[in-house]
Amino acid sequence: MNLDELKQGFQEIYGQEADAIYFAPGRVNLIGEHTDYNGGYVFPCALNFGTYLLVSRRKDPRDTRFITYNFQPSLILNDRLFTRKMLLTSWMKYPAGVMKEFRDAGHDPWGFNTLFYGNVPYGAGLSSSASVEMVMAIMLNDQLGAGLSPQDLALACQRAENDYVGMKSGIMDQFVSAMGQKDHAILLDCKTLDFERVPLEMEGYSLVIANTNKRRELAGSKYNERRAECEEAARQINEARPLQALCDLTPDEFERYAGLVTNETKRRRARHAVTENARVKEAVAALKAGDSRRFGQLMNESHRSLKEDYEVTGVELDTLAEEAQKLPGVLGSRMTGAGFGGCTVSLVETAAIPSFTGTLGETYKQRVGLTAEFYVAAIGDGASRVE
Ligand code: GLA
Repeated sequence: MNLDELKQGFQEIYGQEADAIYFAPGRVNLIGEHTDYNGGYVFPCALNFGTYLLVSRRKDPRDTRFITYNFQPSLILNDRLFTRKMLLTSWMKYPAGVMKEFRDAGHDPWGFNTLFYGNVPYGAGLSSSASVEMVMAIMLNDQLGAGLSPQDLALACQRAENDYVGMKSGIMDQFVSAMGQKDHAILLDCKTLDFERVPLEMEGYSLVIANTNKRRELAGSKYNERRAECEEAARQINEARPLQALCDLTPDEFERYAGLVTNETKRRRARHAVTENARVKEAVAALKAGDSRRFGQLMNESHRSLKEDYEVTGVELDTLAEEAQKLPGVLGSRMTGAGFGGCTVSLVETAAIPSFTGTLGETYKQRVGLTAEFYVAAIGDGASRVE
C-alpha cells in the first residue's frame, strides 16, 4: 500500500483525516549476532521497509483505538484493558508496552486513533517488532511533546519489549530503527551506546536478504534461554576475572578462563559471543580498508559459530546460508537476527543476483520443501515523521 491509499483508508475508517504520519524501519544485521546483550558490538543497518503509523486525536481522551492492516482484529485500548495484558493479541503488546513506558514517565498516552501498516515481513527476523515499537514511540514523543532523544526512545522501546512483551532482547534493533542512516551501517557498542555510522561502499556488490519462510517457533523462550546461559557463563568467569559482560573478553582471554564454565553447552554459548564480538571489529576494519572479501569470510564464520556454538540456526537457515556460500559471485552469507528461522543476508556480486536467487531458490525448495523469498536490501534512514 502506498501513502495515498493509507490516508484514504484512515479517512474511511475514522471519518477524519490523519493529523500526522510516521515511519520506523526494520533492520538487517550484517554481523554481530547475539552480542548486544553480552555487552558487545553489532553492525546493523536500517531497511527502507518497516511500519507506518497514521494518527489523529480522538474525541474521547481516555481511549486509544488500534487498527492494523496486517493483523485482525482491531481493538480499542483503554486504561483497564491495558493492565490486563493477556487480553491483548501478541502484536498489540508492542505498542501497548510503549504506551506504558510513556505513562510510567508521567505522560498521558491516551486519546488517539491509529492505523498501522507494515511492509516489512512480520516475524522474519528483520525486526518488524522493533519497527512497531519505534513508530509508536516517535508518534507519542511528537504528539505529546515529550522531548525524548532517539537514544532514549530506543531504550524505552527495549524496556517495553523486555518488561511488557517479555522478550529479553538487547538494544540493537530499537537503536538502529531510531538511528539508521541511508547507505550506512551502524557500528554500535552495546555497552556504552557509543556508535559510528560507517558508509557501505561495496562497489559492484549488493546485500541480498533471503527469507526461509519458516515459522519461528518458541523463538522467544529459546532466546531468553540463550541469554540466561551467557549470563551464567559470565558469572562463573567473573569469579576469577572480574567482568561486566562476556564481550569484555578477547578470544584469547576467553580460552584462558573457559575451563571455569563448568557446563559444556554454556561454554560454547560464551565462545560464540566472544568470538563474534571479535569478528565484528575485524569485519568493520576490513570494510573500511575496502576488503569486502574478508568481510564476506567473516560473515561465513559468523554463521558457522551461530550454527555450532550458539545453535540458533536449523536446517532452513543452514541450507540457505551454506548453499549461498558455494555460489559464484557470493562473498559471504549468514543468518541475521535472532535465528530459529527468519532470514539470511548474503553479500552478492550485483551482476550475479538473478542466477543467485534462481539457483538458491531451487536448491532450497528441493532440500527443505519451502519457497524462499529474496529482497535486495535498500539501506534507509531511521524513524521519522513523514507528514
Ligand atoms: C533479536 C534481538 C536483538 C539481538 C538479536 C540477535 O533481534 O531483538 O536484541 O539480540 O536478536 O543478535
